[in-house]
Amino acid sequence: MRKLAILVAALAFAPAAFAAGGGGTASWQQWHAGNQLGDRASLQRGARNFMNYCAGCHSLKYVRYQRVGTDLGISDEVLKENLLLPGAKVTDYVLTSMPGALANEWFGIVPPDLSLITRSKGSDYVFQFLKTFYADPNAATGTNNLALAGTAMPHVLSDLQGVQRAVFDEHGAFVTFEAGVPGQLSAAEYDAFVRDTVNFLEYAGEPAKLQRATVGVWVVLFLLLFTAIAWLLKQEYWKDVQ
Ligand code: HEC
Repeated sequence: MRKLAILVAALAFAPAAFAAGGGGTASWQQWHAGNQLGDRASLQRGARNFMNYCAGCHSLKYVRYQRVGTDLGISDEVLKENLLLPGAKVTDYVLTSMPGALANEWFGIVPPDLSLITRSKGSDYVFQFLKTFYADPNAATGTNNLALAGTAMPHVLSDLQGVQRAVFDEHGAFVTFEAGVPGQLSAAEYDAFVRDTVNFLEYAGEPAKLQRATVGVWVVLFLLLFTAIAWLLKQEYWKDVQ
């Protein structure tokens, strides 16, 4: 009985540990973003995160601000006040204001459009990428990344996450992260920040997914209701026969 209780407890807590990026830092490749497309508040926070921390360099060239507003329940006024890049209209696509030539000069590469990034590389990958920057004095940006070694992207979230140090064994294999420069957010808060951002990027990759999910729920509800009605009807018809 006690064994059973322990087993149940272990099973109950395992997914939480996973979602929080637990299971040890050595297994960072198994980290799951654990984002929920149906969580509108998370998507709104993700949109804010993206516009504040990513849109300076990255575009979402297939996504219009207004579509984001409609899908995520953000009014035009709030869009204009909080999310639009300077000079942009609500009917515009989300295009970075950074000129490609300048970006090329600064980073040696133009930051990729992120509209389809979660579809090409997966939400878990983007989650891992944003969580595995570490201090590297030899890198031009001062940081390196486990998911994309030698990346030209600076650790733009370092004020939130801080800058962790990475420990490698004698064969150069990654062992663990160590605390380095602290950031404003706790580890759990940073995970939540990244999860929201990834959630928004997954939404941006296929805005119609949101509707599909909602339609799916209604279809299931309808089927359940219909089953109940059919069953009641059958009871009614057979009442006199038996
Ligand atoms: C200061 C400019 C800058 C900002 C701000 C920035 N990035 Fe980047 N990002 C880059 C550059 C440059 C690259 C190309 C990196 C490379 O290929 O090495 C890149 C690449 C990426 C990639 C692709 C990685 C891959 O595997 O190809 C992702 C995902 C990404 N950025 C996400 C983000 C997110 C999310 C934010 C906001 C939290 C953000 N970036 C903010 C410059 C930036």
